[in-house]
Amino acid sequence: MSVFDSPSDVLPDQASSPEEIARFVVEAAINAPSVNNTQPWWFYGIDREIGMHADTERSLPVADPDGREMMISCGAALFTARVALRYLGVVPKVRVLPEQDLPTLVAKINWSESVPAVGYERELFAAVPRRHTHRGGFGPEPLPAGALAALQIEAAKEGAKLLVLAGEDQRDALAAVVEAGDYALRHDEARAREQAHWGTGPGSRRRDGVPPSAYPARQARIEPNFPARDFAHGHDWGLPPDSGDHLARSAGIVTVLTTSSDRPHDWISAGQALQRVLLFAASSGLAAALHSQPLEVPQLRDFSKVHLCDGAYPQMVLRFGAAGQTGASVRRPVQDVLL
Ligand SMILES: Cc1cc2nc3c(=O)[nH]c(=O)nc-3n(C[C@H](O)[C@H](O)[C@H](O)COP(=O)(O)O)c2cc1C
Repeated sequence: MSVFDSPSDVLPDQASSPEEIARFVVEAAINAPSVNNTQPWWFYGIDREIGMHADTERSLPVADPDGREMMISCGAALFTARVALRYLGVVPKVRVLPEQDLPTLVAKINWSESVPAVGYERELFAAVPRRHTHRGGFGPEPLPAGALAALQIEAAKEGAKLLVLAGEDQRDALAAVVEAGDYALRHDEARAREQAHWGTGPGSRRRDGVPPSAYPARQARIEPNFPARDFAHGHDWGLPPDSGDHLARSAGIVTVLTTSSDRPHDWISAGQALQRVLLFAASSGLAAALHSQPLEVPQLRDFSKVHLCDGAYPQMVLRFGAAGQTGASVRRPVQDVLL
């Protein structure tokens, strides 16, 4: 049974053991997004402490040699762990990169204090299993009033900035940069081979990578065009078209998540901000599409920083809107990642 199926049956009360709490928290945390669904993390739980390590064997040496996207992924899982602890009424104290000579130890979370969760925190927790990455266009409906400003506030709470590209020129330029990044991914042999490893085929028993249930078989052209990664690597895998697909031609609200510096700390902050924004969007009925293809090519990332992000470091391209069909992903079981 998942913690989300019937929380009252599995929800630890005050008397619960540290093991039960760790299991509950990790079961939530593994729902976080990760680059190519690599799930590059493992956890331990001892007493009133949960630790999270980056699993460097699940990194992307070609696309992500510095581990930036791996740390963003871990940051997203860290934020989810915080949300789960708050759901339990526990106040988490987080130390990010607490041991200088152990750079893969992403964070230690401890707790001693209890304060009941408020409605907003319960809503974020409820969104954890509902949130999925959307790939494709959005319907023509505008975002509800105030939604965009609220998303920007959520990003700022974690020390990142959600920059909105409102002008047509800027949106077109960013779409062109994403297209160039995607071209590099498809045509650079080493990049394409690495990505193909994480694009799993129909019937695969793997619990990581991106399965055909997570993306449309054919992406309708959207305006401006933001191509999705080619997880099918040339096969006709993917979901059949949805009846509402002919309406989903808008790129939606186009944004870039940025940080003011670019160290591992910033990548973890960007990951926490990413998941905060994504959970808030999901709890408001909005879907989100993610694009990191151009940010894996140093020249395109530099161009985006200088010309589209006011000199701030781009960490993720995000589009928001209303979507009918959003795919489903897979996860490794808790026992594989919790020691
Ligand atoms: C750092 C990072 C980069 C990502 N880049 C992309 C991307 O370029 N294209 C895409 O479709 N999804 C991207 N994603 C989303 C992942 O593919 C997705 O989280 C993963 O497959 C799990 O699926 P889910 O988000 O639906 O649970 C990215 C996620 C992270 C954390």
